Amino acid sequence: MKKETLENAQFMVELAGEARRRAYAPYSHYQVGAALKTKSGKWFVGVNVENAAYPVTICAERNAIFSAITQGEREFEAIAVVTENGGYPCGSCRQVMAEFGLDMAVIIGDSEGKIHEITTVRDLLPGAFTPANLPQK
Ligand code: THU
Repeated sequence: MKKETLENAQFMVELAGEARRRAYAPYSHYQVGAALKTKSGKWFVGVNVENAAYPVTICAERNAIFSAITQGEREFEAIAVVTENGGYPCGSCRQVMAEFGLDMAVIIGDSEGKIHEITTVRDLLPGAFTPANLPQK
């Protein structure tokens, strides 16, 4: 891993870790923060937002991605996900990531700022169903 890449990953883990403190997780008490970097060099963060009707909960990664999409961004370079113990993105979030490209880097970090792994959407979701699988109309 290039030094520059690692420095960037460390910065993203810090950004996601800072956002994580604003997570709304009164039911699971499992706070998650995400930091997304667009190819155009912009940053978006997201946190998990839980609900008394449990399934309504939205994950940190999807909040970050949806916020970027809302601002007109669709090309992403990397996403950092920070939890207390270096947990990985859920299946639904992997699927949303895959929609926008399998080459995005996924940085897994923890609340101490430790990087557990730097991987890609391709590796996290083998055989992904993507827009390319839909017949062109
Ligand atoms: N969570 C995320 O925010 N991202 C994931 O990828 C995994 C799970 C949240 C959802 C819920 O608020 C809490 O973590 C426990 O599942």
